[in-house]
Amino acid sequence: MTSLQGQRALITGGQRGLGWAIAETYAKAGARVMIQDLDGKGADEAAAGLRRANHDAQSVGGSVASAQDVTDMFKRMDEVWGGIDILVNNAGVSQNKPTLEMSVEDWDRTMDVNLRGVFLCAVEAGRRMVKQKSGVIINMSSIWGIVAGPTRVGYCVSKAGVAQMTKALAVEWAAHGVRVNAIAPGYTETKMLRDVIDAGRVDEQAILRRTPMGRLAEPQEMADMALFLASPQAKFVTGQIMAVDGGWTAYGYT
Ligand SMILES: NC(=O)c1ccc[n+]([C@@H]2O[C@H](COP(=O)([O-])OP(=O)(O)OC[C@H]3O[C@@H](n4cnc5c(N)ncnc54)[C@H](O)[C@@H]3O)[C@@H](O)[C@H]2O)c1
Repeated sequence: MTSLQGQRALITGGQRGLGWAIAETYAKAGARVMIQDLDGKGADEAAAGLRRANHDAQSVGGSVASAQDVTDMFKRMDEVWGGIDILVNNAGVSQNKPTLEMSVEDWDRTMDVNLRGVFLCAVEAGRRMVKQKSGVIINMSSIWGIVAGPTRVGYCVSKAGVAQMTKALAVEWAAHGVRVNAIAPGYTETKMLRDVIDAGRVDEQAILRRTPMGRLAEPQEMADMALFLASPQAKFVTGQIMAVDGGWTAYGYT
């Protein structure tokens, strides 16, 4: 198995879903894992679960959209492990509403978490990584950052912004030994997706028909890509948006 032995990783939004799958996978690969989440109690419980399995894990609460909370979470990395080697900018919120029914607060909330949050964390990580001349940042974009769909303008714009931020930071920090890549997941079986399916805002059968592989993704499939991107096997890979989508973005039919 790919080793991340001793690497210090911070995973935002890590108490469930894709973030949790990545946290567990990194821990099994030998990384020291800080689980960050808005749900601080959930983050504490997730880290405790990893420690019970003999992994090195800690937790920190707060919102990635808050500059103060982000400063505090990186201070905690400094205090606990003396810095950071891998940042996974995973925290994100969905937005699915007809544009003409959206409020400016709907727009701001999506941008605050999905874009401002990724920027704030990337800058704090970059400050440390550029100085130490090594580091990996992985941002969670989406198939909706590559193609567009109706009733999700804020989500599409925020995830396309994440993709461009990935490329911009990758080319700025490449000479400093810092790699920046993104994952663009297709529809993945998590609470975020289940909630919008259950609320009738997304049609599961339509997703399955539209996906060439005919199924939803498993969180582990995103974690496997996150493991590769963090590993030495990806040492010449930077500025890339890796779609893990069962063929979704390649498919021309609706
Ligand atoms: N599930 C999918 O189908 C899918 C597809 C494409 C992209 N994504 C992206 O993957 C990432 C994870 O998605 P998921 O499906 O696991 O979602 P999820 O809702 O199951 O988990 C997201 C986690 O982020 C946390 N979070 C929310 N706002 C936060 C904030 N301001 N600060 C810190 N933590 C916060 C939540 O508490 C939660 O634990 C998101 O960025 C999402 O946009 C998901």
